Amino acid sequence: MPDLIRINKFLAQRGIASRRKSDELISQGRVCLNGIKLSSPGAMVDPVKDTVSVDGVKIDAGLLPEHLTYLMLNKPAGYITTLKDTHKRRTVMDLVPGVKGVFPVGRLDKDTTGLLIMTNDGRLCHRLMHPSFEMDRLYEVTIAGQVKASDISRIERGVDIGDGKASALKVLDIINDKFKTVVRVSLHEGRKRQVRKTFEALGYKIKELTRTGYAGLKLDLQTGSYRHLSEKEVSLLKKGVGIT
Ligand code: URA
Repeated sequence: MPDLIRINKFLAQRGIASRRKSDELISQGRVCLNGIKLSSPGAMVDPVKDTVSVDGVKIDAGLLPEHLTYLMLNKPAGYITTLKDTHKRRTVMDLVPGVKGVFPVGRLDKDTTGLLIMTNDGRLCHRLMHPSFEMDRLYEVTIAGQVKASDISRIERGVDIGDGKASALKVLDIINDKFKTVVRVSLHEGRKRQVRKTFEALGYKIKELTRTGYAGLKLDLQTGSYRHLSEKEVSLLKKGVGIT
């Protein structure tokens, strides 16, 4: 007989949430067991055979530390951030050939370039993506033409991007050129196309969008290349989301 455990215990043991909060995740329809959305907290899990995911991220049954992989990729434009694409488009997985089991932490739009973390550590991935940890993201936005000072203030105050919540970005730096402006911004949320929509809502055309920093990590790679994170970088990520 396999050792079955209750789903809330499984999630709590893997540091996803307390048992009570795990029950809430289940009632919010965010937990799947073997691909099927759970609706009641009573499900039992075989930690060896079953596949559990939260918000679409697979929770590993407990990989040994030596099997955990953490990568930084400098994503080029034209690749989508998904494990597999049904339309045979290029995905970020094509850029890490031979690295088994990793998946992207969060997403970047097809045309966005820059820092993407990839790992097989489901617990870390889940926490990095969870809005409550407010991981810092840094972007360089290249705009065609000039950006008005009054619009910079609007961006910092918050712009309506059509999803019922104002989007406020912290503007760190503005570099003006004759034909373009590079605006460096930071934000803590991971809303879909948030940076693009914020500038587009004010009528600007984005020429390039690059993520240069994430959760304390800084991009230091050529476009299209990847590297393993150092122990120090992994500890920084874990510390940032309360994993000791
Ligand atoms: N904001 C965007 O608009 N696109 C991204 O890819 C990331 C953040």
